[in-house]
Amino acid sequence: MIPYGKQSIDQTDIDAVIEVLSSDFLTQGPQVPAFESALKTATNAKYALAVNSATSALHIACLALGLGKGDILWTSPITFVASANCGLYCGADVDFVDIDPTTYNLCPIRLEEKLVEAKKVGKLPKVVIPVHLCGQSCDMQKIHHLSLQYGFKIIEDASHAIGGRYFEKPVGACEYSDITVFSFHPVKIVTTAEGGAALTNDAKLAQKMDLYRSHGVTRIPELMEKDSHGSWYYEQVDLGFNYRMTELQAALGVSQMQRLDAFVSARHELAARYNEKLKDLPITLPYQLEGTYSGLHLYVIRLQLDKLSKSRKDVFEELREKGIGVNVHYIPVHTQPFYRRMGFKQGDFPEAEKYYSEAISIPLFHGMTLEQQDEVVATLTQVLEG
Ligand SMILES: Cc1ncc(COP(=O)(O)O)c(C=O)c1O
Repeated sequence: MIPYGKQSIDQTDIDAVIEVLSSDFLTQGPQVPAFESALKTATNAKYALAVNSATSALHIACLALGLGKGDILWTSPITFVASANCGLYCGADVDFVDIDPTTYNLCPIRLEEKLVEAKKVGKLPKVVIPVHLCGQSCDMQKIHHLSLQYGFKIIEDASHAIGGRYFEKPVGACEYSDITVFSFHPVKIVTTAEGGAALTNDAKLAQKMDLYRSHGVTRIPELMEKDSHGSWYYEQVDLGFNYRMTELQAALGVSQMQRLDAFVSARHELAARYNEKLKDLPITLPYQLEGTYSGLHLYVIRLQLDKLSKSRKDVFEELREKGIGVNVHYIPVHTQPFYRRMGFKQGDFPEAEKYYSEAISIPLFHGMTLEQQDEVVATLTQVLEG
């Protein structure tokens, strides 16, 4: 089976992890700060906090922005459930903004319409989480402009987008957001096995996220409320979690970050080849928003079902049977049973639902051979034309 995504691990990665195993620190040593430095260098953000998943990063980002009971968080329905769940973890209410039918990202026009209505009834969101689906940045200038007008904070869910750019600035620079979050799950562009990070240019937000990722405990004298008892002394000044990344994970991350540009350009070469070889099939190919350079975590095609005699399910199952490890990103979050129990229903976000009925992610990963790609193209062509 040719997978839809796969990590790329070389001998340098293996050596880096093994070296940590025989070092003094398996956690809370020098590798996490080194990984954070690599993230700062790659994005130009002032602060980077590595954690054990993007889910944890989203949670501490929401907490640092003061999201709590009585507040509202909006995100895209076409995302992994974590982008919405983080609001619920904080006791806030969650709602969605429908997607743009060409980029599949949260639509700034729908966002503005929803803000106008929400303002009338006093239900404006405190936090909006645009998700850079497949690695392509959302229209951040427009979303940022609306945030100034309507007073919400922005967390970019860039779980798919490390190595991407928005108007020549790296995704993660936080130019149009308060915080950006990355995921380092193995199918993503860079991996630490499990892992995530939150980046910001705001010293106070960074300090809060640092506390939340490690029990709300500090050893920094300025943050303490009482006089130190001695050099062993620490204080818990807030309620936090154990969301720390290990040294093994961070060492893998440091090593992987050295190949970030190579990973993303290899994905672009493969995507350009797909664009050329698939252009005559009854499918819609990924759209490139002006000013964006995608991290290209995923290559999603949309079936033009009116030109096909098969359903999306038929095409998907046939591809899987023939050894092509396709996937679907994502089932609209508002249609999940857990969210339906909150009152969401089919029909609430029509563009997201239409996208879902047509989308298939086909294999794209660093290390995919041209032969593998040709096999995907040939099989897809055969299934769609057969
Ligand atoms: C858009 C998006 N947000 C958040 C997450 C959560 O990432 P993690 O698995 O690192 O917690 C994912 C993971 O698939 C994702 O795709």
